Amino acid sequence: MKVGIVGAGMVGGAAANALVLTGAADRIVLVDRNAARATAEAEDVLHATPFAHGARVASGGHDDLAGAGVVILAAGVGQRPGETRLQLLERNAAVFADVIPAALRAAPDAILLVATNPVDIMTQIATRLAGLPPGRVLGSGTILDTARFRARLAGHLGVAAASVHAYVLGEHGDSEVLCWSAASVGTIPIADFAAQLEKPLSDEVKARIDEDVRRAAYRIIAGKGATWYGIASGLARIVRAIAGDERALLSVSAITEEVGEGAPVALSMPRIIGARGVEETLRPRLSPEEQRLLERSAAILREAMAGRW
Ligand code: 2OP
Repeated sequence: MKVGIVGAGMVGGAAANALVLTGAADRIVLVDRNAARATAEAEDVLHATPFAHGARVASGGHDDLAGAGVVILAAGVGQRPGETRLQLLERNAAVFADVIPAALRAAPDAILLVATNPVDIMTQIATRLAGLPPGRVLGSGTILDTARFRARLAGHLGVAAASVHAYVLGEHGDSEVLCWSAASVGTIPIADFAAQLEKPLSDEVKARIDEDVRRAAYRIIAGKGATWYGIASGLARIVRAIAGDERALLSVSAITEEVGEGAPVALSMPRIIGARGVEETLRPRLSPEEQRLLERSAAILREAMAGRW
C-alpha cells in the first residue's frame, strides 16, 4: 500500500520509519511545507530499507499523494512544555483547512489517519472538512495511551506487554479513562493475575499507574521536547490493520454518537479496523465510575468543539 504522510516533523518522520521497519507500506511519500525537511526525512528513512522491508520512500507535494490508500495527517504544531493538547486547537485547525482539501484532491479514495493534536478534535474537524463517509477518517486517539497502560502494567506484573489486554478510552488527553474493570492478562482478570503473582494492584498502585500513563507525554516533553516513537509505532499498527484488512480491535478516535448526552463527538472506543477504516465500534463493559468518566471526557471534548459548527 502507498501511504502519504503530511507533516514531516518528528512524528511524521518517525511514522515513515516505523512503516518501513514493520513493512506496513511499500511506498511512502512525505509532504511538508518545508520541502527540504521532507526530502531529508525521506532520504534518511530510505537508508533504513536495506535493514528492514523494501519500500520506495520519497518526498513530494500534495499532488504526489495520488494513489495513497492512507494519508497520515501529522502537520501542525506540538505542545510546548506545560501546554495541554487542547491549547493547540486554533493553530492546528487552520493548518487542516489548507491541507485536507489538497490531500483529498490528489487522493480522493484515501483513508485519513489523524495524528495532529488535539487529536480527537482534529479528527472531528478533519471529518467535517473531508465530507467523507463514517469510518474513512480516524484518529490515532488513545492507541498510544493504551500502549502506555499495557507497557506500565506489564512492567508491574512482570509479564509480556502483548499478553496484557487493557484499554484507555475517551479523550487522548487529560480526561482519558483507564478501563481497569475489564483489564486482563490473557483471559485472567488483572486483579486475580496480580494477586497470584503477589504483586497486588492496591488502590495506591493503581493511582500511581494511572498518573504515570496520564502524565507520560508531559514527562517526555519536559525531557526531550516532544514524543514520537510511541505514536509512530501506533500509526504503523493502524496502517497495517488497514492495508491487511485485518479487522483488528484497536482503541482509536472517530466520531461517536452514543457517549453521554449531546452532539456526537470524536473520541476513542475499541473499534474494528480493516480495509474500509473503522468497520465497527464496540461498547466495552465499564464500571459505573468508568462510564461516568467516559461521559465526562466526551463532555470536555464537546465543550472544546463548541461553536465550531
Ligand atoms: C503524546 O501523548 C503528545 O499526544 C502526544 O505523546
